[in-house]
Amino acid sequence: THEIIIAPSILSSDFAKLGEEVRAVDTAGADWIHVDVMDGHFVPNITIGPDVVKALRPHSKKPFDVHLMIAPCDAYLGAFAEAGADMITVHAEAGPHLDRSLQIIKGLGKRAGVSLTPSTPETALEYVLDKLDHVLVMTVNPGFGGQTFIPAQLHKIRAIREMIGSRPIRIEVDGGINADTAPLVVEAGANTLVAGSAVFKDREYAGNIEAIRAAALR
Ligand code: DX5
Ligand code: ZN
Repeated sequence: THEIIIAPSILSSDFAKLGEEVRAVDTAGADWIHVDVMDGHFVPNITIGPDVVKALRPHSKKPFDVHLMIAPCDAYLGAFAEAGADMITVHAEAGPHLDRSLQIIKGLGKRAGVSLTPSTPETALEYVLDKLDHVLVMTVNPGFGGQTFIPAQLHKIRAIREMIGSRPIRIEVDGGINADTAPLVVEAGANTLVAGSAVFKDREYAGNIEAIRAAALR
């Protein structure tokens, strides 16, 4: 869990040619492909469902990191697993039975993660740590790409780094990550960086991914 993983979020790509966009970031050096799933209920936006994930699956061999911003989520976990998700992340705020959701994901043979919105404390993770492959710290309020990084989340990343100790749990950050904020989150303990607008801002995907990676390793 020491190397830096860069996971471009296709939320900021051109939805009219998603397959092509996935192939382009794969070739450009993405480690994982981050897929933002929104339901218009848990978050005020609607994006991608399991059928789209399934349609994208043949376009890349890289792990699909599926971030579910949906509530309730349990009824859809099987569909996303079947569609080709490798990692499935659910929100701690999405329902009363986080432990059950994680058990379902592990039962499907997928890597399980919990995401925390900016107002949720790290203590929400305390009793589910042993079921986690990763934690996803939202560094913006979920719903949209292109928002500004919330610096108060650095404290949370540090607290989670401490909490996980020697467990092999990755710390992923999502929201407002670019070459300026990457060094801050890595210094605090993150090792997996989601980036949407910073990767897709222009056609230079490889250069944009490399700039974030280089900044993270500084
Ligand atoms: C926001 C999504 C993020 C988003 C990040 O709800 O979870 O993955 O796409 O976009 P940027 O990197 O532009 O903040
Ligand atoms: Zn996301």
